[in-house]
Amino acid sequence: MFEEGARLKKDRGAENVFDFTLGNPEIEPPALTLETLRRTVERGLPGSHGYMPNTGFPQVRAAIADKLRRETGLPFSAEHVCMTTGAAAACNVILKSILDPGDEVILLAPFFAEYPFYVDNHGGRAVVVETDGDFLPDADAIARAVNERTRAIILNTPNNPSGRVYPASVLDDLAAMLARLPKGPLVISDEPYRQLTYDGHQQTPVAAAIAHTAICYSWSKAQALAGERIGFLALSPRLPDADRLFAACAFSNRTLGFVNAPALWQLVMAEAADACVDVAAYQRKRDLLCDGLRRAGYEVRKPEGGYYVFLKSPIADDVAFVGKLMEQGVLAVAGVGFGRKGFLRLSITVPTDTIERSLPAFERALRAARA
Ligand SMILES: Cc1ncc(COP(=O)(O)O)c(C=O)c1O
Repeated sequence: MFEEGARLKKDRGAENVFDFTLGNPEIEPPALTLETLRRTVERGLPGSHGYMPNTGFPQVRAAIADKLRRETGLPFSAEHVCMTTGAAAACNVILKSILDPGDEVILLAPFFAEYPFYVDNHGGRAVVVETDGDFLPDADAIARAVNERTRAIILNTPNNPSGRVYPASVLDDLAAMLARLPKGPLVISDEPYRQLTYDGHQQTPVAAAIAHTAICYSWSKAQALAGERIGFLALSPRLPDADRLFAACAFSNRTLGFVNAPALWQLVMAEAADACVDVAAYQRKRDLLCDGLRRAGYEVRKPEGGYYVFLKSPIADDVAFVGKLMEQGVLAVAGVGFGRKGFLRLSITVPTDTIERSLPAFERALRAARA
């Protein structure tokens, strides 16, 4: 996506290309984060640039456990928290730790396009289950897909790409369904957008609702630190055999080649874990884009959280429509890549001025598609 965008900008001039493909935070990290980073460097604590236990600095893990205790009411300790190089690493570490070749992992479509590759990395088999017409998990459909090889279900809320924030009632239904299964699969809760919710929506912590949960978190989105690679994996204290699984995760974190999460950023997060970008700024961009698209004639569902508008393609062939947009200089990602044809994904992490100037191009593409 980076390369395609760069090529088009070179051909047409950057001002004529409207790139909505990547969820790359274009705003700066919170002042508290940058100030804590500066202080941490200046303090020059001995050992702050060296190796540490594979799971991270013990005092940092204790601080994160403290935060998780407050958020979920569960007795998290440092022994449940492994610092990782972002949520992508956390997902790979847990999958590596639980999968034997041929084991199955359920993905809920539409899903983050990298999940099938993560599962494949560790010899697993991705099994796709559709969400319902409102992009919410369907507990019965998931139950029907579970068999003796099912090791995990990946949940992602706020969701990339659908923008849904799964309500507590949906998580409770899933918990009840999982409790009825003889050997319940692990729920991998990939939640890098956890704080990014709009219109007063709040994300119920998945680990509070579902007993057997592994949390994959990152500060890539909430603190606009995507290039710094800092996050964590946390195993719910309610998981049976959590100690053994944690030991496997510590080993996987190292042997997958991550070794440990960046030392300086771990130290920063011990103090600044709760800092967050101005979520209202994203909500304003969401509104500008969604309202403009509606006026142009598109059918739009506003995202409740996260970085993306999942737009219904005005023609059945989403790939063809992405082509029509590209002719007008608009770059979007076709829904088929997320396991849901007939839609396209637009990122709201673009400058306001890009959104404003792109709207006539969206309108022209719609007219061309209908012609
Ligand atoms: C749903 C989802 N999971 C994981 C990631 C990877 O996040 P990180 O940068 O923390 O590895 C992303 C990034 O876009 C994402 O959207």
